[in-house]
Amino acid sequence: MDRYELGDILLGRDVIRNKVKELAQELSLYYKDKPVHVIGVLKGSVIFLSDLIREMDAKVHMKLDFLSVSSYGASTKSSGVVKINKDLDESVVNKNLLIVEDIVDTGLTLQYLVNILKERSPKEIKICSLLDKPERRVVDLKADFCGFTIPDEFVVGYGLDYGGYWRNLPDIHVLRKVN
Ligand code: XMP
Ligand code: MG
Repeated sequence: MDRYELGDILLGRDVIRNKVKELAQELSLYYKDKPVHVIGVLKGSVIFLSDLIREMDAKVHMKLDFLSVSSYGASTKSSGVVKINKDLDESVVNKNLLIVEDIVDTGLTLQYLVNILKERSPKEIKICSLLDKPERRVVDLKADFCGFTIPDEFVVGYGLDYGGYWRNLPDIHVLRKVN
């Protein structure tokens, strides 16, 4: 089995903070006149989400709900299997949904989520992702609001984990294989 350790910082906390502010401004403008139902995808998005919504204009009419899916387990490769572990608490019928994710990698997780949510008759579905790894995409999916495009490296920190660890790090690091 491969072993990994923390590598260099790819995105430092200041760079992240500035980008989160920019995204929050964009979102505040977009949701200026329409209520938004923010859906956090547990657990990777929680740090980003909590910073993002506090940077948004307080006048934005917003509710928050969460769901949890698993696609990876303790591996850096997608299994292609996506399972809902915890569903939303509230109905999404006729609501403007904003799905907040940590990263779009293959795109399989979000494609699956979007398809499930579409069946529940929302008014609109938008996606906001902190990170995007376009090189790894296997389905045609793009976040409507996106922070950083990153190279094909496994990253941890600021909510992102490896085997459940390192979510708490304030910066985003590359994961390095130990030989
Ligand atoms: P897909 O491939 O479905 O993946 O777009 C989305 C989910 O995979 C996880 N993921 C990562 N997690 N560092 C992480 O900590 C990464 O570099 C990474 N790439 C994918 C993540 O949970 C995301 O929601
Ligand atoms: Mg995730």
